Amino acid sequence: MRGELRYEGKAKRVYATADPQQYVVEYKDDATAFNGVKRAQIEGKGAVNNAITVAIYPQLEAAGIPTHFIRQLSVNEQLVKAVSIVPVEVIVRNVAAGSFSKRLGIDEGTPLSRPVIEYCYKSDALGDPLINTDTVLSLGWATEAQLARIRELALKVRAFLTPFFGARGVRLIDFKLEFGTLAGGEVVLADEISPDTCRFWDAATNEKLDKDRFRRDLGGVEDAYAEMLRRITT
Ligand code: TMP
Repeated sequence: MRGELRYEGKAKRVYATADPQQYVVEYKDDATAFNGVKRAQIEGKGAVNNAITVAIYPQLEAAGIPTHFIRQLSVNEQLVKAVSIVPVEVIVRNVAAGSFSKRLGIDEGTPLSRPVIEYCYKSDALGDPLINTDTVLSLGWATEAQLARIRELALKVRAFLTPFFGARGVRLIDFKLEFGTLAGGEVVLADEISPDTCRFWDAATNEKLDKDRFRRDLGGVEDAYAEMLRRITT
């Protein structure tokens, strides 16, 4: 199934297939934080993040959100539609945390009265700097129509995921999305939805069930990822 390696990121590899319209995505156990400064292997992370993403994506499709997902191929691989990734990380926040709290001096855990969408330029070399919609348009990374669609879909993902996790005893604090375009220009959700790319706090205890356990040396990283998979799939 797997052809030539097309792209290797910090947590995934993307391979060509015999069909130019399809790629294989392989999830790795590698974890990095602070733009690659901190590195480790988290045993089983690739399989867990693949399983979580595979469980959620078809439900997003059913909720009217087009995605790149086709099907799972193995414990750490999935088949996806070949897209051209828009080089923008779209962050959606329900509650202040992380870089938002740091930048603005707002205590972590402060609820936001409405969702905040932030955009960052997807560039490891530059450390994913914060940008705005004018930057995206002016540099031609997306058209006005594509950007409006990205924002609409990001809010739709939030509207689906917030109660989805809530029903599983998890507060969705914030998350990061990436979008791609198909050959005809249609915008689809790409990338993963996992404890690497979301902040999950236990609804009863506010215990962190996400990559902040790794970023902040809180321990129990593997257990937190496994617990999130359990809550999503049982
Ligand atoms: P931040 O508060 O550090 O900006 O992170 C916001 C959300 O985005 C959080 O859920 C973690 C996720 N995220 C990524 O998926 N990739 C990244 O490179 C960073 C910095 C954050």
